[in-house]
Amino acid sequence: MNEKLSSLPSPYALTTDNTELVFVKKDALWRVAHYGERSNVAADAVLLTECRYNAESFGRATLETYPSFGADYGDNDGQMGMCKYGAIQAQHADGNTTVQWRCADAWLAADEEDVEHVVFDLEDTTRPFRARQHFRAVKAADVIETWVELEHDEPAPVRLSIMDSFGLDFANIGTEFEVLSVCGQWACEAVQDSTRLARGQRIDLGSRSGVRDAWENNPAVMVSLGCPLDEDRGTVFAGALAWPGAWEISVQHTLHHILRVRAGAANLSGAYVLDAGKRLTLPKFVFTYSTQGMGGASRALHRWARGWHLPHGKVVRDVLLNSWEGAYFDFTEKTLTDMMDGTAKLGGELFVIDDGWFGRGAHARNDDTCGLGDWIWNEEKLPKGLAYLVKEANARGLKLGLWFEPEMANTASDLAEAHPDWIIREKNRPLRVGRGKSQVVLDMSNPAVRDAIFDQVDAVIRSANGLSYIKWDANADFMNAGSTYLDADHQANIWFDYTVGVMELIARLRAAHPEIVYQACSSGGAHADYGWLAYADEFWGSDNSCAQQRVFIQWGEELFYPACCVASHVTVSPNHQTHRTSPLKFRFDVAFSGRLGFELHPKGMTEEEIRFCTDAVESYKRLRTTIQQGDLYRLVSPYKNDHAALMFVSADRRKAVVCVYGMARLAMQGNPAPLHLRGLYPNLRYRITEINKAAESHIGPLEGKAFGGDALMTQGLPFTLGNEDDSLVLELTAE
Ligand code: GLA
Repeated sequence: MNEKLSSLPSPYALTTDNTELVFVKKDALWRVAHYGERSNVAADAVLLTECRYNAESFGRATLETYPSFGADYGDNDGQMGMCKYGAIQAQHADGNTTVQWRCADAWLAADEEDVEHVVFDLEDTTRPFRARQHFRAVKAADVIETWVELEHDEPAPVRLSIMDSFGLDFANIGTEFEVLSVCGQWACEAVQDSTRLARGQRIDLGSRSGVRDAWENNPAVMVSLGCPLDEDRGTVFAGALAWPGAWEISVQHTLHHILRVRAGAANLSGAYVLDAGKRLTLPKFVFTYSTQGMGGASRALHRWARGWHLPHGKVVRDVLLNSWEGAYFDFTEKTLTDMMDGTAKLGGELFVIDDGWFGRGAHARNDDTCGLGDWIWNEEKLPKGLAYLVKEANARGLKLGLWFEPEMANTASDLAEAHPDWIIREKNRPLRVGRGKSQVVLDMSNPAVRDAIFDQVDAVIRSANGLSYIKWDANADFMNAGSTYLDADHQANIWFDYTVGVMELIARLRAAHPEIVYQACSSGGAHADYGWLAYADEFWGSDNSCAQQRVFIQWGEELFYPACCVASHVTVSPNHQTHRTSPLKFRFDVAFSGRLGFELHPKGMTEEEIRFCTDAVESYKRLRTTIQQGDLYRLVSPYKNDHAALMFVSADRRKAVVCVYGMARLAMQGNPAPLHLRGLYPNLRYRITEINKAAESHIGPLEGKAFGGDALMTQGLPFTLGNEDDSLVLELTAE
């Protein structure tokens, strides 16, 4: 609970370094008068909004900070209307289906330095139903976090059919809007697309998986405000919902050019049943306003994530080798120690044992049909145990990581056989199963299930005695919609309570073992979201490790999430998913623009390949602070060009890394246009070196020379590029 510092004066501008969200009190409620660039005079923003909209449609917008289904809105001629686009819709104990808020208190809450925190305490005008709404401005990131807590003292439960975290109507923000989102599926995550939102139209994004929340759509959106969507220019609103369950975000453009944005958890089986006295905390929505196009919006979200959201956001990430594509289920202790030898030789710092190390007897996990839920090492496969493997890794200067899938079980497991009621299932209907024809989702709304899984995972961590990393996988959707833990009246709560339960479980493990780094994985990149990233340090980008396709996948993911959390691994050629061949250099250069790792058995590499990798890993280590912690500038989009280019610039702008990838390029078409670099100091001179070189230089006579930042940004840097699969990485250092 944050302490109250003072009451909120009206109007009030909640500010970040470059933006402001202006609130004004009108009658019993606070409204949003303005969101955009900072002007510092809140009263001006209010007057400018009101003058414009009184004449037209001020009354038709629902500008309250938390619009409710059933709120009044007055018309200019005295007629009354009712808000039907509420961010909250509740059926009260007496059956009434509307909410009418009044603000009981509006105050500034104590928070960390450089964060300003406004709270609105709302209560229904006639029923004991309350919301506490938070807006938390993270100054240096230009990002505002918002969330809502709900509770009531009604004589019976309140049913919430809509319970959004965010619902603002922006009335003075533009007349033309283009909406960008990313969508995906297994092996094709984060496909970027956009469309102009015509007047009167609404776009709904969402995920109905319950688990793989970032596939169908990723829970994030960008909207251009009054201009076409552009990488570098124009104003952009961007927001992301930190909720790894079922969710919905909608963006609407009304006749009167109101931009209406709603975002929140989705209740797919019916209204959420909130009991009296229980406090429901809705997920965080974070948003930013950029005057530098999509690029500015991405950089703001990245800065916020690294500085204020990710658990170890400022810590550089280890170079790792994951065993999955190198061994799959087929390994012995010797396979693993051989892989450790290879990892150390390549310059890696962490070795991760993927799926297949656990389960015993008939449930030993040697394929995907059994064993999930039995988190105990397979004695036949690994007779010396996990502590031995940690020691072996440490002896080679490596840390050790382990794969888990804590939310899941196979029906063929000791756990599920002993506790069939711990599975998410429907009463009197056959159980649907997923992967391996036996995978099921555990009922994480049930504290006994969470305790049992916590105890097992905790025991593994303790017995390993020095585990450094956990890959937390989740390879199923909700296939059944019921809980044997929740009573008949609360069945629909499973969607929300499951997600709360999973987050509680990982939070508990983190608290017990704060040294462990987590990767969120869900059949590849289905956990690329800020809900998971409140607890996990990174996510696996995709099971598709084909470098050509990874350029697109990482491009889409890095629109919203910083490079430090996009796990990106060099794998073998031909690629296991697409069967495409591509040069090691290309595969390496693509992995270079995320959190670099390997996923192969190094014993298959030639001495020359190992030498290339060792040098390139050394370069990555030298530059990883710039890549993982720097500002991302997307220079050339693979969606519109035959190559892609992006660059990372260090916080002090003295160091930069440029990556260029040849995509589907036709032969003999000449070189691309010079690269207009960005983010440099115009007056500084930057020395340019090409790294990860396999053959001849791509910048020829420019190699090793220094150029002014202004020339590099305006005239651009010429370079050569061969056909597809050619690539280059440049290091820039200010003199
Ligand atoms: C999922 C993950 C993979 C791997 C396998 C193991 O598909 O995305 O990286 O861990 O599970 O079964």
